[in-house]
This record gives sequence, structure tokens and C-alpha cells, in this order.
Amino acid sequence: MAWDRFGRKIRYLRISLTDHCNLRCVYCMPAEMSFMPGEEIMQDDEILRLVRLFARLGFDKYRLTGGEPTVRANVVGLVRGIADTPGVRSLTMTTNGVLFSRLAEPLVNAGLKRVNFSLDTLDPEKFHQITRWGHIEDVMAGIRAAEEAGLIPIKINAVVVRGHNEEDTVSLARLTLEHPWQVRFIEMMPFAGATEFQRLQGVRAEEIQTRIEAAVGPLQVENGGNLDGEARLYRLPNAQGTVGFIASVTQPFCSSCSRVRLTADGRLRLCLLREKEIDLLSPLRAGASDEALRQLVLDAIWQKPWGHNLADGEVPMNRTMSQIGG
Ligand code: 5AD
Ligand code: SF4
Repeated sequence: MAWDRFGRKIRYLRISLTDHCNLRCVYCMPAEMSFMPGEEIMQDDEILRLVRLFARLGFDKYRLTGGEPTVRANVVGLVRGIADTPGVRSLTMTTNGVLFSRLAEPLVNAGLKRVNFSLDTLDPEKFHQITRWGHIEDVMAGIRAAEEAGLIPIKINAVVVRGHNEEDTVSLARLTLEHPWQVRFIEMMPFAGATEFQRLQGVRAEEIQTRIEAAVGPLQVENGGNLDGEARLYRLPNAQGTVGFIASVTQPFCSSCSRVRLTADGRLRLCLLREKEIDLLSPLRAGASDEALRQLVLDAIWQKPWGHNLADGEVPMNRTMSQIGG
């Protein structure tokens, strides 16, 4: 088992499969984004070796992220390899959904258990504008395919950006009236790349909730008021699904954090909002033994930081969100 010095048991690994993306959301990337050279990205066998190592340390929960994980070559084979690793209990993915309609079924057959879609608006024009070139029909087809393939419950993540999609939160929340989905609103966090934009255009979860309640009626607390993962859950009157708020900026959930991240270039990122990372790929490529890598991981996790320091203006600037994986 891997513990940090605050007594948190760490058992959840989020793996970024690539920093590439087939969209360019305005709050995530500059239009002219540059990407990591291919040789710096972990190969399939390198990812699988690290997953075996983490699984032996008691990590049982895995999520694949990007950039956009579905643009990685052989994503299906990789999912199969991870799902088949002894000790891996839950394997999920976060995707923008653009390529998902033809991937849902093969991914399920390969062992994927659930999927989170990123969707910030239901308005086709606005979607095109926020993503710089995306077509919302592709995402909706992806969501339908996921539901048909049994990747349920469907979760949808919307980052709320002032001046872009505040009003759209209402129609997104209304999706839960008809669908047994979990629609979650995420406070935008600042990283390198679009830092000023992210800092200035963020919207507090509380404000989003007030807006939704004003339009659709009071939200009933779900899950006994406890966090479900990182989301606080509510239900609209008579809704089939739930609405969640992920208040990473204003109400951090660091005390219950059980996760670390592996970046596409093989660095163990201890906290999304802290710069500290430990290089696992270079030692692995230099021939490190499993025992040596295991010790590196355990020592790193012991050092996992407590909480972010955004309030004091400390913003992680060594990577963009897409280079860390959400
Ligand atoms: N703050 C919060 N969430 C973000 N995402 C991308 N950039 C940010 C940010 N600055 C979200 C995406 C996706 C997930 C991977 O992270 O919209 O839902
Ligand atoms: Fe791609 Fe997600 Fe970033 Fe949008 S937010 S550009 S979909 S990685």
C-alpha cells in the first residue's frame, strides 16, 4: 500500500496517454499549441510496466486522460492490457467524445468500465467557438454510443467560463431530467498556457448553483451531502439523473484525495495544482529494476503535497492542463 505523510492512502492513478488533442478549447490551449515529441511519450509496454508496478502497490482505480486519450494509436489494445492487469479493479476514461461513437463498443470489450465526457454547452455554435472547431453532433453520437455499449452511468463534465457558457449551465442541468446522467460543473483552474484567462473568467460553483436553482427550482441534496469522488451531488425535482459541482478552487477536497497522475512523458505528478513531479520514465529507460522503481514511487507518494495555494496566487506553471491530464 502507498501512503503519504498525511495518512492518505493513495490508490488511484490517472494516466495521460498523450498531450495531443483533436480540439483546442479556448480555456485549455492556445490556438498554436506545440506538443511533446513522440520519443518523449511513454510507449505501450512502458505504460503497462508502470501499471503492473502501481497495481502491486495497491492501486486499483485507473483513469485514462489526455490531452485526448482517444487520439492515441492503439488505445483499445492499451485499455485491454491495463484492464487485464491483476489488481486493476476500475478502469475509466475522460474524453471529449469526438471519436467515441466508433470506439465505445471496442473499448467496452477491451475492459473499459465507464466514461466521462467533457461538454461545456449544448449550443452547436457555441461548442464550435469554445473548442475552436469541434462539432457537437460528434460528441452527442459518442455519448449515445457509450450509453448503448453499457458505459453507465454517463458523466458529463462542464467547465464554466465567464462570458462563454454561464447560461448554458441551465440547459446542461436540464439534461438530467430526461437522462440518468450525472452532469457536473467544474470550477476552472489556472495553469500555464491560458493562465490569465483562467484566472479572470472563472465562476464559483456557488454562483452556478444559484443560477440553476433560479431557472429550474431547488436542488435536493444527494448522497447524504457527501462528496461522490470530487463532486457534491444534487437532484432537480423528479430528475432521472444528478447534478454535481466540483469546486476545486473554492472548496478543495484535498483531505480525501487518493490520486496521483502519470503524465504522457512518464512523470509522476503528485498533485494537479502543484508543480512537483518525479521522473519515472528516464530511470525505466535506463534499466531500473522493478524494485528501484517501486521505491521511487513510494518515496514520491510520501511527499505528496497537501492542497493547492491558488488563493495566494501560486499557480502551477510548468505544464498546461492538457499536459497533465484532467
Ligand atoms: N480547469 C478545470 N478543468 C479543466 N479542463 C480543462 N482545462 C481545465 C481548467 N483549466 C477539463 C476539461 C475536461 C477535463 C479533462 O478537464 O474540460 O473535462
Ligand atoms: Fe482538448 Fe480537453 Fe483541452 Fe478541450 S479541454 S482542448 S478537449 S484537452
